[in-house]
Amino acid sequence: MALPTINPTTTEVWKKLQQHYLATKDTHLRELFDTDVNRGKTLSIKWNDFLVDFSKNRITGDTLNLLLELAEEVGLKDAIKSYFEGELINQTEGRAVLHTALRAKKDDKVLVDGVNIVDEVFEVKEKIKTFSEAVISGERKGYTGKAFTDIVNIGIGGSDLGPVMVTEALKFYQNELKTHFVSNVDGDHVREVIKDLNPETTLFVIVSKSFTTQETLSNALTIKKWFLQTASEKDVADHFVAVSTNLEKIAEFGIADENVFPMWDWVGGRFSLWSAVGLSIALSVGYENFEALLNGANEMDTHFRQTPFEENIPVLLGLISVWYNNFYNAETEAIIPYTQYLHRFSAYLQQGIMESNGKSMDRAGNRVGHETGTIIWGEPGTNSQHAFFQLIHQGTKLIPTDFIGYKKSLHGEVDHHNKLMANYFAQTEALMNGKTAEEVRTELESQGLAAEELEKLLPFKIFEGNKPTNTILIEKLTPKSLGALIALYEHKIFVQGVVWNIFSYDQWGVELGKQLAKNILSDIENSEIGKHDSSTLNLLHFFKE
Ligand code: F6P
Repeated sequence: MALPTINPTTTEVWKKLQQHYLATKDTHLRELFDTDVNRGKTLSIKWNDFLVDFSKNRITGDTLNLLLELAEEVGLKDAIKSYFEGELINQTEGRAVLHTALRAKKDDKVLVDGVNIVDEVFEVKEKIKTFSEAVISGERKGYTGKAFTDIVNIGIGGSDLGPVMVTEALKFYQNELKTHFVSNVDGDHVREVIKDLNPETTLFVIVSKSFTTQETLSNALTIKKWFLQTASEKDVADHFVAVSTNLEKIAEFGIADENVFPMWDWVGGRFSLWSAVGLSIALSVGYENFEALLNGANEMDTHFRQTPFEENIPVLLGLISVWYNNFYNAETEAIIPYTQYLHRFSAYLQQGIMESNGKSMDRAGNRVGHETGTIIWGEPGTNSQHAFFQLIHQGTKLIPTDFIGYKKSLHGEVDHHNKLMANYFAQTEALMNGKTAEEVRTELESQGLAAEELEKLLPFKIFEGNKPTNTILIEKLTPKSLGALIALYEHKIFVQGVVWNIFSYDQWGVELGKQLAKNILSDIENSEIGKHDSSTLNLLHFFKE
């Protein structure tokens, strides 16, 4: 069943939400907490080792009821069913969207064209297991008989961001293999990565779903050339493996059949880390940890699929985000993990969220009349507090922010962890409460400030507060909890795409730039420059001078 094409703005409940927005937009969060002492508990969900507190949002019980009504009206329930059951919900590419099948249990059945794909998934998982264990144990060796010490993942977009983010996030669990990533077509990137590597002990994993991506093929060729300066063509088989759907192109590149890890067109690049695209993850943290990552995601899948919407974490976070995006006109959302391990998390979600929901055509092919995808950004706390938090606290823009934190420190640095988490809690409290003129006055008076000086300074020291946040507090950063966290955001993307009546799983918007770059490359490489606007022409002439 295709996804329904319901313009959310034509629903009855949309009008009610607009009226509700006008009636409640000036209510301060402080007021909401004052009138309901249980708000913190009522508006939070305990799930496995997660506590998700969404009470510091500019919502009331009525807001939630209306948003849940919206979810019903746009057919979210059936949409979720279609998503998990492999309907062709990526309609513009004629594909199913089944990254959830990559973390399915062995006995599960997910049919694509009548074939249970879970069996194929498990075959590839077995291959990942055997391969990664042989490399980690040193049983599989390089062309001079030495064990591998370094892994280089060559890929871009979803073939890079997921593996980088997860290997960084799970650094605590890493074995001795050093993992590197080459993504940019900028030759300085690849050169910087390989300059200290030993070809005899380095394994290269080329990851490209299409195997036609300019960046990845250029980097792979440069690396192969570098490798062949010391090794011979027959050694390529020992050092290069590939992950792709394009078996023909892999063969052209000279990769041995046994070194090919297949993937499927029902896995979108930005949701592919659960497939063999995550090979560098399995190599870096071991297969068991990779499996635990998948299990964590699977648990979140079950929660999303089976939990009533009023207690369903991805549904609620997705709807609350719609509330800000479409009624408060908030344009961006920040994601701030209070762990250095998640320093690539926002960058990873930028692709997941913005490539998915950055669309302006609705599912019927008409231009939408409402706002769609949010702009995502963020950096870890506490660093971000010393960088851009000023704007979140006192700027003119409303920036709903997710705070992600953990109860335990992995290295057991209790003193540091208490300080880190004190900041984590303090920020959401400060953003919510703010500081009134009265509070500022009392504070300045107690500091003995002269009256005139005090009045001058006072306006600058006021914090309006009323800044919305979600607090996701997790027991510990483990492969399993990370898997669940990533899946939470994946499903939030889905919820929002359904509400906004857009196709979340294509990415036509990345094509035009690629096409033009091809033409311009020939302008750069040949003497003649083709037809361009006067700005581009001028720039190209200056570049070629
Ligand atoms: O340009 C965008 C994109 O198509 C992403 O969606 C994808 O993750 C990335 O390029 C890399 O594609 P591939 O894995 O086919 O090399």
